[in-house]
Amino acid sequence: MSKKQRVLTGITTTGTPHLGNYVGAIKPAIAASRADDIDSFYFLADYHALVKCEDPERVQRSTLEIAATWLALGLDTSRSVFYRQSDVPEIPELTWLLTCVTAKGLMNRAHAYKASVDANLKAEEDPDFGVTMGLYSYPVLMAADILMFNAKRVPVGKDQVQHLEMARDIAQRFNHRYGELFELPEAEVDEHVATLPGTDGRKMSKSYDNTIPLWLPEKKLRKAIMKIKTNSQEPGEPKDPDSAAVFSVYAAFASPEQRAAMRQAFADGIAWGEVKQQLFELINAELTVPRERYEALISDPAKVEKELTVGAERARELSRPFIAELREAVGIRRLG
Ligand code: TRP
Repeated sequence: MSKKQRVLTGITTTGTPHLGNYVGAIKPAIAASRADDIDSFYFLADYHALVKCEDPERVQRSTLEIAATWLALGLDTSRSVFYRQSDVPEIPELTWLLTCVTAKGLMNRAHAYKASVDANLKAEEDPDFGVTMGLYSYPVLMAADILMFNAKRVPVGKDQVQHLEMARDIAQRFNHRYGELFELPEAEVDEHVATLPGTDGRKMSKSYDNTIPLWLPEKKLRKAIMKIKTNSQEPGEPKDPDSAAVFSVYAAFASPEQRAAMRQAFADGIAWGEVKQQLFELINAELTVPRERYEALISDPAKVEKELTVGAERARELSRPFIAELREAVGIRRLG
């Protein structure tokens, strides 16, 4: 086995990729996968999607879109293991092994579950109204994703840090009971990675309905950018870049020189329309070539499927022998 650091992250397949996903997660992950000292594992968390989404069409479509997005943006699948969670049956199996060492009390503390309970209490409903076992034990599935490959570093958003703490806790309990089988993973929350504001100035997020989809055709992309909220300052008036959503988005795509020049333009009173035009040109230049690759992949799902199948096979080369070891550790099988 190589001594490289293992980096792993999952993307839930419920939505359409937007600029915020690109800047905040996909772009840094693809860049990281090119580093020589890491082994990267990126996967489509389609079992996780079932917790939030009851629409089969949507899960299916999102899986294709997200896979095509990563490939179109240049993920090198010869360096990085890129797979679909449901193609690795050892993951749900491990989920059960972990479920049996996970304290119910630990799951009671999970934010997502607690938020549902609080909402129910507020609405004077039964506290468990609408709460499935999927939602409740979601953190165990996530722990299995990570522990299956003994990943050390897990890049995630702040909202996932608690899940990583739970994964560590679960791994420790398992190790305590059955021997040192799991590495303890760590969340990696990159403070330098930009959180992109959406069209209304709040964080770009599906739940605020303020996203700009990554693969809009050129004209629609321009239109969406023109809709980003600004204030009513006139052309010629000096403007404050640090309170303008358009500037934050610009900064996330620009080189340091371009950023400095735009700051100066703000001080000189550039018109909002002009900022947006420049922003459109900047983003469009970066996305034009990948967009063509994306369109080609989306219209050839078999090609995407092939990549995922290869990825799953590589993942299973690791998960198969490891699950055998784990089965033996808990006493349900003896190794040959
Ligand atoms: N729960 C994560 C999210 O919603 C996605 C995810 C699933 C994940 N399994 C993972 C992230 C394992 C990191 C590691 O964003």
